[in-house]
Formats: sequence, structure tokens, C-alpha cells
Amino acid sequence: MTVPPLIVAPSILAADFSRLAEEVRAVEDAADWLHVDVMDNHFVPNLTIGLPVVQSLRAATTLPFDVHLMITDPHRWAPGYADAGAYNVTFHAEACDDPGALARDLRAAGAKAGLAIDRDTPIEPYLDLLPNFDTLLVMTIKAGFGGQRFLPQLLDKVRAARRHVDAGHLELRIEVDGGIAADTIEQAAAAGADAFVAGTAVYGADDPAEAVRRLRELAGGAAAGA
Ligand code: DX5
Ligand code: ZN
Repeated sequence: MTVPPLIVAPSILAADFSRLAEEVRAVEDAADWLHVDVMDNHFVPNLTIGLPVVQSLRAATTLPFDVHLMITDPHRWAPGYADAGAYNVTFHAEACDDPGALARDLRAAGAKAGLAIDRDTPIEPYLDLLPNFDTLLVMTIKAGFGGQRFLPQLLDKVRAARRHVDAGHLELRIEVDGGIAADTIEQAAAAGADAFVAGTAVYGADDPAEAVRRLRELAGGAAAGA
């Protein structure tokens, strides 16, 4: 299997949940991963979906699931998403006492392991943990809601992570999430991100698949010029 240079992951948070399977199929040929935001009304104020919905959805598409857990006590819940067939399971650094241990458990359960860093969390304390992970998700908003405005100052964390990953020759995706759209994705790519979550920019478009392709094209151009 060839490794795509850049990943675009539509977030179903911005989809019409009454037609979720169709919304997912609409991006199936264009997207690399499907980003699934799990929120528990504790770690973040919002509440979305949980394991039963992810299990049902797993049967509806061939897209790899990029599950983003915005929940407390991820050690209790995260491995269930790996068992449900998620490709990548990302949990928040702020919610976990021992991120390295949970990453090992996720990998043992057959998933990639992802570490998410919220808006107000510095990246430096986590850099040495990155060899345990397959993805690093740098929030470019405060986690909790779709449709927020992109915060460009958070790309400093992407730059720091990119330097660290390249210097250590780590095999790790650097993913950005929040406010990624045609007018922001190039800066994120130039900062060193190579995976891009987009909710509103994809499902708010007339043609979601075309929006995904356009985002990948813009990111690719910016990455090549960086
Ligand atoms: C918010 C979620 C995001 C959200 C992004 O906390 O993690 O994945 O869906 O939505 P947009 O692209 O609309 O900012
Ligand atoms: Zn997300």
C-alpha cells in the first residue's frame, strides 16, 4: 500500500446526521480518512456520538476511521474504538495520566495511536513521548465545537513538532483540526502539518468531494513550496 503524502479527513461533525451514511459515501472516493469526533459533555461541554454509532458506521464505508476522543478517562474507553475497527484512535493529553501506556494499549489492540493537544496546552512536555504515537493532533481551535475560527498562532506548535519529528526521523503524522478551509490550509501545510481535518469546509460546500480534492491540492502546493 502506498502511503499518501497528505491526508485529508472530513469531519462528520459538520454532516447531516439524519443522512450520515450518505454523507460519508459522498466523500468516500475523495477522502483519505474519516474524522469522527467523540465528545462526552465532560472533557468538552458538547456531546456527540459514542461507540455504538461508530460500530454501525464502520459497516457503512471502507474509509479508515480517524477517531478523535474528546472525553475524560480515555484509558477506559479508547481501546473499544480500536476493537471496533478504528484505524487511528486519538485521545487528549489533558485527559490522560500516562499517554505512553495508553498508546501502547491502542497499538496492541491493532490501531494507530494519536495524541491530541488542545489550544491551551504547550507541546514541549509531550515531544519526548512521540515515538509511542503514530499521529499528533494539534488543535487549531479550542476543542469542543465545529465551525470555529482558525487560530494561526497555534501553528507554532506544528512547527515545533515538525522540527522534532524530522530531527528524530519519527514516523508520525502531524494533524491539524479546527477551522481548516481553503483560506487556512496552506499555512498549516507550510508549518509542517501533513494531515488535515475539515468539517465545515467539506460539508458546508455544495460538492463535499470536490471540496476535499481542492483542500488536498492547496495543501500539496503549500507543502511543496515550504
Ligand atoms: C472540534 C472537532 C473538529 C471539528 C472541526 O472540536 O475536533 O474535528 O469537527 O470542524 P471545523 O472544520 O468546522 O472547524
Ligand atoms: Zn476533531
